[in-house]
Amino acid sequence: MVRLEKLNVGVIGAGGHGKSRHLLPYSKLADVRLAAVADIDPKRREEAARTFKLKAYDDYAEMLDRESLDAVSVVTPTGMHSEVASYVLHRGVHVLVDKPLGASLQEALGVARAGKQSGKKLMVGFWSRFSPALAFGREYAERGLLGNAYTAYGYIVRRRGIPGIPTFIDKKLSGGRGVMLDIGCYALDSALCLLGFRKPVSVSGATYTAFGKNPDEVKFNWGNYDPSKFELEDYATAFVRFEGGATLLIEAGWAANVSHVGELGRLRILGDRGGLEATGDEALREISFHSRTDNALTDTKPILRELDLGYEMVRAFVKCIRDDSSPVVSAEQSILLHSVIDGIYLSAEKGEEVKIEQVQI
Ligand SMILES: NC(=O)c1ccc[n+]([C@@H]2O[C@H](COP(=O)([O-])OP(=O)(O)OC[C@H]3O[C@@H](n4cnc5c(N)ncnc54)[C@H](O)[C@@H]3O)[C@@H](O)[C@H]2O)c1
Repeated sequence: MVRLEKLNVGVIGAGGHGKSRHLLPYSKLADVRLAAVADIDPKRREEAARTFKLKAYDDYAEMLDRESLDAVSVVTPTGMHSEVASYVLHRGVHVLVDKPLGASLQEALGVARAGKQSGKKLMVGFWSRFSPALAFGREYAERGLLGNAYTAYGYIVRRRGIPGIPTFIDKKLSGGRGVMLDIGCYALDSALCLLGFRKPVSVSGATYTAFGKNPDEVKFNWGNYDPSKFELEDYATAFVRFEGGATLLIEAGWAANVSHVGELGRLRILGDRGGLEATGDEALREISFHSRTDNALTDTKPILRELDLGYEMVRAFVKCIRDDSSPVVSAEQSILLHSVIDGIYLSAEKGEEVKIEQVQI
């Protein structure tokens, strides 16, 4: 149904990401009325309320009671995504939940099912999906220019970037999972996207805590955390097998003795007709295509547009509500992603390859 009036939007969680990738982009959309923000931290909610001229609430349920909201962004710590997003959906409000959909497959399924039952739009906030480099790769893959894409490699690693704030390292807030869930999910989501979300069948994973517990390392990383309480993995690697025989090797690191200083993302897909190589950070920024004609090996490097990916993400969410179309980043895709991530952690714990069962929403 096309609605002409402005969409009433609220945001739950006014932290770094809530401000920069949700509140700010919504404030730029002409067909949105940014109405309210909820955050348990008074400083954050008041600051957001002042900056964006909104009503501020400490309790998101009260925000839903008092404001007549059409849509809400959930940008709380990951360990709360499932509970908060499911509640909002059950209240009959469309939800954009920042990545990842939940801390585990079970949690992600909870939100996905709440979305299905409510009949409301549920989109997962992977801003990386709006990358022009990824779009170029998808177009080439969908046009069959890779031929049979048989293997892929995804990498997202920081030299020193353990996010030493409670949101990311407190077991409850983070959902008890480290780098593979936090940023590995970007590399995995982009890889799955270019592989056409084919079904994963098994995975062998390993996780390491090489830096997080070392007191000498704290000053090189982010925040000022207590290393004796650090319980998450700061590096993870996995080998995934898909239906039809394709494979994916993936690595994610919050800290590693690598040559690059900042966060580096890499993705490579090899097919028998062509291959794609991309680099970036959480989002892919550059991509190239490698193939051959009858007589020459060829390289294609597109000139890509510069886009504000956070803006594109919220715009796509608003558009799917207005057009009553499917969200660009769907819960179904994230269920596949979480089945791999759960498999990685289970395999790491058992020390052996594990099967990935297909689950229905
Ligand atoms: N897409 C990205 O690139 C990206 C980058 C960073 C973070 N994130 C995701 O965004 C989420 C938030 O990350 P962040 O960096 O903004 O963290 P943050 O700690 O800066 O912000 C989280 C906010 O949620 C608030 N909050 C906690 N419990 C709440 C509740 N019950 N009701 C309302 N508010 C509550 C906190 O007070 C805080 O202000 C995480 O899930 C993270 O994975 C995504």
